[in-house]
Amino acid sequence: MEEDGEEYLFKVVIIGDSAVGKSNLLTRYARNEFNANSKATIGVEFQTHSLEIDGKEIKTQIWDTAGQERFRAVTSAYYRGAVGALVVYDISRSTTFESVHRWLHELNTHSDTTVAKMLVGNKCDLENIRAVSIDEGKSLAEAEGLFFIETSALSSTNVKTAFEIVIKEIY
Ligand code: GTP
Ligand code: MG
Repeated sequence: MEEDGEEYLFKVVIIGDSAVGKSNLLTRYARNEFNANSKATIGVEFQTHSLEIDGKEIKTQIWDTAGQERFRAVTSAYYRGAVGALVVYDISRSTTFESVHRWLHELNTHSDTTVAKMLVGNKCDLENIRAVSIDEGKSLAEAEGLFFIETSALSSTNVKTAFEIVIKEIY
């Protein structure tokens, strides 16, 4: 975190398996855009987004990396300085939910315990092919001490809320 008078800059990272929708959550939040044919992320991308809390401008730098191991950047650099994290799975694919433990382990290894963490069950528009129940998501979040929310980058459901809960917790 850098503090410069009334201006804050927070780093938030998004992690989770490939194709859970990390990049689309970011573009939905930062630019209100969704891409139905988005390509797998290679390396790291980030967007800066501002929001006002209590009359102060809060700038957030949101980092997005590849879910696929072979496309990932240096892990320690990715997490360095992060004060918030979104750990994302896809509610229509159980394997992505099972991977959450592995992502949390990596996050906990590379960042300190004060990081504000949100478990995000994305693609909640796919209710008809849901494979992970809301209760399963909630229980895992409770057990691991994370916030929990279901989102849809496609239908814009809860995307803003997911980021803002984390940012407000940091602030
Ligand atoms: P990597 O970069 O490989 O780690 O993947 P990613 O997690 O960034 O996934 P990405 O945002 O590229 O999305 C993968 C696919 O899921 C794309 O076809 C998206 O259009 C689709 N997708 C993302 N979010 C949603 C959502 O909320 N609902 C539905 N139905 N599809 C989504
Ligand atoms: Mg991506």
